[in-house]
Amino acid sequence: MHAWLCENPVGVDALQWKELPTPEPGAGQVRLRIEAASLNFPDLLIVQNKYQMKPPLPFVPGSEYAGVIEAVGEGVKHLKAGQRVACLSGTGGFGTHTLAPAALCMPLPEGFPAVDAAAFIMIYATSHHALIDRAQLKAGETVLVLGAAGGVGTAAIQIAKAAGARVIAATSSDEKCALCAQLGADATINYSTHAPQGSLRDEIKRLTEGKGPDVVYDPVGGDFAEPVFRSIAWRGRYLVVGFASGPIPALPLNLPLLKGASIVGVFWGDFSKREPQANAAMMQTLAAQYAKGLIKPLVERTLPMSELKQAFAVMGSRAVKGKLVLVN
Ligand SMILES: NC(=O)c1ccc[n+]([C@@H]2O[C@H](COP(=O)([O-])OP(=O)(O)OC[C@H]3O[C@@H](n4cnc5c(N)ncnc54)[C@H](OP(=O)(O)O)[C@@H]3O)[C@@H](O)[C@H]2O)c1
Repeated sequence: MHAWLCENPVGVDALQWKELPTPEPGAGQVRLRIEAASLNFPDLLIVQNKYQMKPPLPFVPGSEYAGVIEAVGEGVKHLKAGQRVACLSGTGGFGTHTLAPAALCMPLPEGFPAVDAAAFIMIYATSHHALIDRAQLKAGETVLVLGAAGGVGTAAIQIAKAAGARVIAATSSDEKCALCAQLGADATINYSTHAPQGSLRDEIKRLTEGKGPDVVYDPVGGDFAEPVFRSIAWRGRYLVVGFASGPIPALPLNLPLLKGASIVGVFWGDFSKREPQANAAMMQTLAAQYAKGLIKPLVERTLPMSELKQAFAVMGSRAVKGKLVLVN
């Protein structure tokens, strides 16, 4: 087998494509022949030693992937060789083969392409957990999605539309706004053309007839958080999803008081571990929504697995729309 090996977590440049011994699965594991692996933001952080999870060295990055089971380890009863699965295990995906924990493998129904499957779990699980569980989004409410053309952002647009909400998609370019409109967003804001404390708030007001959004989905953080929170509706829910722009914002606590509003944390990874049954039920709902065509990952482009470094460069330059997927 071959894989991208991280021996020294000092960044993407230090990753090396290496031949490694093909491993045999241990108890509770399966060996997968990887068909596709997608890039998630934590993949970029983990190879720089900036992610909360620090795997022992050396490790193969690649949090999320899909493939065919080649061998099953002791005690694995619900999966068999030849079956296709998707898996989000945190590491191991950027290679030709990996050992995956059987408990984390999601069997794929007929007709679920590997490219979609490899780009599915993280973005839809996060956005469904955020909008439907944490924010209790209702049909007819308005959701403002920041970073709306990114991985979790595009999923948030689709999940909110499937729930009957009105979606305002906010991104940093007209091109990204156009893409969000194609995905179903009812209105868009190019926030790079607005001053956060100035016309951005006016634009949000204009698009919500003065009321403000009921739910804000924020995977970006930084300078927008406070002005956007100031624009939220009475009883609004502000979903803290991530800090892709870098800085972690701080909010004066009088703001939630004045709006009767909530700051709601979202941590899908821990939700899936602490509430596995609720998570499994949610994954079934998402698979059914995919089968009905209500949600489908926006895969802007696929690249050969050998081009991981180019893929990271695109992601780091803020140029990705939807998801980037590497294929073998
Ligand atoms: N809480 C959870 O459970 C959970 C789960 C999954 C992911 N996350 C977090 O959610 C965030 C987004 O993840 P993702 O996979 O959607 O990433 P992504 O596809 O790269 O999208 C991130 C978006 O953030 C915006 N952005 C603003 N400043 C940026 C910068 N300096 N560099 C890169 N992007 C910037 C970009 O949109 P514009 O150009 O339009 O601004 C970009 O499309 C990450 O922080 C990730 O860790 C959280």
